[in-house]
Amino acid sequence: VNITIIDRDGVSHDVAAPTDMAMSLMEVIRAYELVPEGTIGICGGLAMCASCQCYVISENVALPEMQVDEEAMLDEAYNVKPNSRLSCQIPATDDLEGLVIELAPES
Ligand code: FES
Repeated sequence: VNITIIDRDGVSHDVAAPTDMAMSLMEVIRAYELVPEGTIGICGGLAMCASCQCYVISENVALPEMQVDEEAMLDEAYNVKPNSRLSCQIPATDDLEGLVIELAPES
């Protein structure tokens, strides 16, 4: 699926993310080495660290509803905006075609 990821330096990357490997967006970001190793996915994708926080820029792509764990973590995280999501909680699926996200600053 084709998504655009703006890294922490403001550089935009067009990525063709695999949808047949049960990857989360956090794992996609890591696989494409868009951030230095060890600065994303610290909790292993359990919605417990917010190192994978991103801002959803595109408005026309429907994302899965936020679950309680994600909401609770974002309540405590830094740099949270109304369009914040945890990328580890968003599976890479064909539904994300055209999605644009920006990575939140390292915290
Ligand atoms: Fe820790 Fe997403 S990787 S909250």
